[in-house]
Amino acid sequence: MTMRRPLIAGNWKMHKTAEETERFIKELLPKLENVEDIDVLIIPPYTSLDRAGRLLQGKSLQLGAQDVHYETEGAFTGAISTHMLKACGCSYVLVGHSERRELFGDDDTIVARKLNVALDSDLKAILCVGETLSEHDLVEEKITRQLTQDLTGIDAMTLTKITIAYEPIWAIGTGKTATPEVAQETISMIRRWIASHYDEAAAQGMRILYGGSVKPANAKSLLAQPDIDGALVGGAALVAESFAQIVDAARLQ
Ligand code: PGA
Repeated sequence: MTMRRPLIAGNWKMHKTAEETERFIKELLPKLENVEDIDVLIIPPYTSLDRAGRLLQGKSLQLGAQDVHYETEGAFTGAISTHMLKACGCSYVLVGHSERRELFGDDDTIVARKLNVALDSDLKAILCVGETLSEHDLVEEKITRQLTQDLTGIDAMTLTKITIAYEPIWAIGTGKTATPEVAQETISMIRRWIASHYDEAAAQGMRILYGGSVKPANAKSLLAQPDIDGALVGGAALVAESFAQIVDAARLQ
């Protein structure tokens, strides 16, 4: 029996206006009424955060942002700060999502800076790591490199504010999910890395999610794996009903 509290997070990417966000939240909230012992999080685009934050005041459904800038204020056209996210009611932020890394040039130095600014501002961070299809044979090297560089300067105490999401890039939005066994194997490797770079207590306390084509139909078998503590969901998180079904799959573990 794990002591780690599961997290089901819905990363909406570039989907939904503020109006559509409101409709989604009003549909989802009643479906979560009896959910206990699980953290549930939605991660809408920036333009929906303020409206979502107002609707979620006093609710257990939590709010996160998809990215953040690594400086706290200043001449950074187009960027959003941790302070702005917190003012909208965000408690979480994604850092190093593969789409940020691959499409927007967030390298490990930038990811480490974003992680640091998020944690300094008392946001919880979800650090995403994962390999492309061509790197799949070298998955351990790739992820080890990402963890080593991204977690530079993070001490064991601060580490408790981080959730790691293992997202094989070849499984994101492709309908190709990693098998539960493959996901488990990589995630347990990540846990071992935490044990050897911090300690066993840090490793046992570290919440690690799987992400990549998680759907109601495969969620249960993924979440049943001993080291998988939740899911980072893209496509299936855009529909309240299917997102709620994935939350239910976590409850039944
Ligand atoms: P997907 O996206 O569930 O649509 O594959 C997951 C993610 O990118 O976080």
